[in-house]
Formats: sequence, structure tokens, C-alpha cells
Amino acid sequence: MFENDPALGEVLVSQEQLQTRVAELGAEIARDYAGKRPLLIAVLKGAFIFMADLVRAIDLDVQMDFMAVSSYGDSTETSGVVRIIKDLDVDMAGRHVILVEDIVDSGLTQAYLRETLGARSPASFEVCALLVRAENTEINKRFRYVGVELPPGWVVGYGLDVAEQYRNLPDIRAFRTEGTDS
Ligand code: IMP
Ligand code: MG
Repeated sequence: MFENDPALGEVLVSQEQLQTRVAELGAEIARDYAGKRPLLIAVLKGAFIFMADLVRAIDLDVQMDFMAVSSYGDSTETSGVVRIIKDLDVDMAGRHVILVEDIVDSGLTQAYLRETLGARSPASFEVCALLVRAENTEINKRFRYVGVELPPGWVVGYGLDVAEQYRNLPDIRAFRTEGTDS
């Protein structure tokens, strides 16, 4: 189905590369949190596949919860206003929290979540972002765990979408936006 889709560009992170990197991140988290019970919080929907693979790569007693947020405005330009669509079920107070993100682009969602969740008295708070933009050198310093750095350009697959499409694509691929041949 995806083979002949002209909207899909090059494979930026293959299924195999994802598997290797997620295993490494899981092992690193297991080492860093040895003896603790971290609470992993994923931001829906984009992070659902990453979360599913990551928790199985962490050899610890982990707990998980999910949040959904949305930024106002159109899909290509973020307005800087983030709204919580679904809040947590679990109490974060006193917990070692790891926020699991699919991709950090402008960093606005991250900044909002860091402020909002940081105010809920976690014992510690770290971010694990599967994908970041290579050019965001300052923003990326805030994340304890980073999967892969990407060049600019919209990407899809492994949970990431464009208009709810391509989330089930197993690789991360460039999406050819209309009017460009990138
Ligand atoms: P930010 O607030 O600009 O950092 O990005 C917020 C959200 O936009 C991310 O968590 C993704 O859900 C979505 N997003 C940003 N860039 C991409 C992309 O290239 N593909 C798919 N979703 C993206
Ligand atoms: Mg997201």
C-alpha cells in the first residue's frame, strides 16, 4: 500500500534503525533508573508506537499514562497555545516522571508540558524524545534522552501522521508537501 505512494519521500529512519535505537534508549533508562519505578507519560497520538516499543525495552517495573494535547491554529503553523485534551489518570506527585515524545519541532508543546507537569511535584522530570530537529541545538539540550536528529521537513510513520494518515507506516519517511519536490 505504501510502496507506490508518491507523497512519501526517502526513508529517514528505517524500521531496523528504530528497533536498535529504541533498545538503546530502553537500556539507558533502565540503567539510570535502577531501583526506581519510573512513570512514563506519552503524548498522544504520535508517541503511541514509540511508547509501546520503549516500555518493552526497559527492564524495570515501569508504569505508564497518556496525555493528549493540541495546539490551536492550522496544522503547519503552531500558535503557541497548547490545550490539554486528555489529562493524566495517575497522580504524578513524588514520581520519577519521563515524558515520552514523538517529535519536538518548535519546542512549544514541550515548553508547555514541562511547565504544567513540572508544577505537579514530581520527584524528577526528564524528557525522552524519539525525534528532534538537528538545528534546535539549544532546545535539544533540555532532553535527557534523544533518539534521532532530523533535518527540517515534515516526516510521517511510526506513529507520526499527516492529517491522521501514515501512522502505521513502519519506517519514518519524508513527506512530500504539495508544491515542492523535496
Ligand atoms: P512542537 O510544539 O512544534 O514542538 O511540535 C508539536 C507536535 O507537532 C509534535 O509532538 C508532533 O505531534 C507534531 N509534529 C511536529 N513536526 C512533525 C512532523 O514532521 N511530522 C508529524 N508530526 C509533527
Ligand atoms: Mg506530539
